[in-house]
Amino acid sequence: MPQSRRAVPDCCCGSEPDWAARYRDGETPWDLGCAHPELRRRIDAGELQPRGSGRAWVPGCGRGHDLRQLSHAGWQVTGLDIVESLRGEVASYCEASGGAFLLGDALACGAPEPVDLIFDHTFFCALPPTRRAEFGAWVRSVLAPGGRVCSLVFPVDRPPDLGGPPFPMTTGDLSEALGQDFLLLLDEAVKRPGEGRAWGERWAVFERRDQG
Ligand SMILES: C[S@@+](CC[C@H](N)C(=O)[O-])C[C@H]1O[C@@H](n2cnc3c(N)ncnc32)[C@H](O)[C@@H]1O
Repeated sequence: MPQSRRAVPDCCCGSEPDWAARYRDGETPWDLGCAHPELRRRIDAGELQPRGSGRAWVPGCGRGHDLRQLSHAGWQVTGLDIVESLRGEVASYCEASGGAFLLGDALACGAPEPVDLIFDHTFFCALPPTRRAEFGAWVRSVLAPGGRVCSLVFPVDRPPDLGGPPFPMTTGDLSEALGQDFLLLLDEAVKRPGEGRAWGERWAVFERRDQG
């Protein structure tokens, strides 16, 4: 492992974590305590201006650091998570932007109106791989034509035999889940990695090209 990479314990090994217990016990090594630095860099570079209706959804939003950053950039943000205790930390930011905090399985949440951005930061990699096709179907059900999926792809170079979650993922895994109507616009190594991340991260952006 390169010197610059500090090993961080995985969020758990071999089975899905009890997410609520992890937050309750403060065992949240995935939580950077702030928005991902690459997200901030890209916003500062003008790459994430609100598009369309300006609605952004953040599935598996955790404590909501990224959605706060997106709301500062002008997006109307909705955070989705299965952990009820996060509501207090997240809902007010969402509501101030015109969005909401939706409690429950994100993949079961329908959108009353199509959204223009889905931002993934260690949500896809936390889902059991058996749910990836479902993730793709969910994205297609909520995202507007021309809408984008932006993902901090992580952990890209983690050997599969180390188990998970986070389960290893690649941009190709995401592409396969989304299906042929999504065009890959960007797939780049991040310039500002999350502090303490032991494995590589990429920044991938897909755009929906069909009419929904
Ligand atoms: C690894 S954490 C990432 C949290 C946040 N994105 C961050 O970077 O700090 C994964 C998050 O997804 C949530 N989660 C897991 N499965 C979920 C599901 N099916 N629907 C909604 N949220 C889910 C967990 O509660 C947790 O907050």
